[in-house]
Amino acid sequence: MRPYVIVFGNEKGGTGKSTLAVHLSVYLLHAGFSVGTVDIDARQGTLTQYLEHRSKSPLHLKLPEHVIVHKSTFENKADAIADDSKRFNEAMEKLSGCDYIVIDTPGNDTFLSQFAHSFANTLVTPLNESFIDLDVLVKVSGNDIKTMRPSIYAEMVWNQRKERAKNGLKPIDWIVVRNRLNTLYSKNRGDINVVLEALSKRIGFRLGAGFCERVIFRELFLSGSTLLDVPQGQQLSLSHVSARQELRELIDFMKLPGIAAAA
Ligand SMILES: Nc1ncnc2c1ncn2[C@@H]1O[C@H](COP(=O)(O)OP(=O)(O)OP(=O)(O)O)[C@@H](O)[C@H]1O
Ligand SMILES: [Mg+2]
Repeated sequence: MRPYVIVFGNEKGGTGKSTLAVHLSVYLLHAGFSVGTVDIDARQGTLTQYLEHRSKSPLHLKLPEHVIVHKSTFENKADAIADDSKRFNEAMEKLSGCDYIVIDTPGNDTFLSQFAHSFANTLVTPLNESFIDLDVLVKVSGNDIKTMRPSIYAEMVWNQRKERAKNGLKPIDWIVVRNRLNTLYSKNRGDINVVLEALSKRIGFRLGAGFCERVIFRELFLSGSTLLDVPQGQQLSLSHVSARQELRELIDFMKLPGIAAAA
């Protein structure tokens, strides 16, 4: 199955989609795969900026083939949808020779984002650890799991899954991964874990282990480098090593084609 498409999606801002998209893309590049990246959050353009910084790095860092797809400016809805689909398909066609395509989506609902989700072999949804952030998965009213209903976003993913099934495509492997976890154990997190485990069965996602809150993620952006780009001879901090381990755990959990799990 080539290219294998990985979409980072969550209709909520600032959960780590762009950061994890860059890290995964660089991991795949280091592993020897050809990688295409698509930024459909062109207005904010975090992924694009990250890669621009990367292209200027004196370390001559490896780069994916990058494409930006802007949201249509047509006013008529039907025209805008047709225009968005056409340009998105062109981007996918341009990257069709890659082993992997990684797509970064905006933190809000757009047609482009919905369309991109329908291409996903794997969908990664980073989530912050508060109960408020659970509303991207369910309509929350109290924390009784039985009364929770899938959110608009979960329904959208469900619809894209149905579309894929109709077209004879493999189901989307949906992975939810908590990000920016407080390193100290909190009671809140224990409760969220219970709810997320129950939701994973009900809504149909796999729950990954997650990433702790680490300053290093914010510091790397300006240099365009990632946890994986370390100049020879440079000592790694403990936080850096732990963050890399978390990334490796996510990648193993994703069970991507051509990548053997770490021993
Ligand atoms: N594990 C982490 N620890 C600390 N900071 C993080 C972590 N993950 C992401 N960040 C920081 O959080 C901010 C938001 O991350 P990012 O831009 O990747 O989110 P996003 O989901 O793409 O946001 P948007 O929806 O606005 O596109 C950035 O400043 C990023 O550096
Ligand atoms: Mg982003």
